[in-house]
Amino acid sequence: LIAAHKSRNLIVVGFMGTGKSTVSKLLSQKLGYTGVDTDEEIERRSGRTIPELFASEGEASFRDWESRVIREVLAGDRQVVATGGGAVLREENRLAMLAAGWVVALTADRDTLIRRVSLSAETGNRPLLAGDAAKRVDELLEARRHAYDFAHVMIDTSRRSPAEIAELLLRWLR
Ligand code: S3P
Repeated sequence: LIAAHKSRNLIVVGFMGTGKSTVSKLLSQKLGYTGVDTDEEIERRSGRTIPELFASEGEASFRDWESRVIREVLAGDRQVVATGGGAVLREENRLAMLAAGWVVALTADRDTLIRRVSLSAETGNRPLLAGDAAKRVDELLEARRHAYDFAHVMIDTSRRSPAEIAELLLRWLR
């Protein structure tokens, strides 16, 4: 009964650059679930890009958007929900995720993360990494050291392809 309830949704959390969006897309296709990306949903509903939201209203306002979108999206079911890297910072969001499905945390080692986020950091698409991206990654990794520990399962994506990760997770879910 618990397992049936938990399979309502699959929620993917993890630091920036762990591959949440790519893996989530594959998982939604393979499961036949609806794919939802909370960052895209925030942009759609607010009519602004995330860098615009950070610049005009600040991070706190972005976090309010994020919490609202998470709460509303997680009312649905049969979804694979990719979240932003900071979506786990608020307790209300962590509890909403745990109640709505299986929570999967993706991880990667520092150098892999820096390699994966460098382009988006340079183009300004990840406002929290503005300036010295490697230094910002180190600071945020430290600040978020245990932020993803609440997940039901944790997978290191450093030396695995998105397809391999999706396969691992599908096997775990069955
Ligand atoms: C953030 C991660 C971003 C986005 C925003 C803030 C964070 O999502 O939500 O820039 O606080 O880690 P990705 O993890 O998809 O980059």
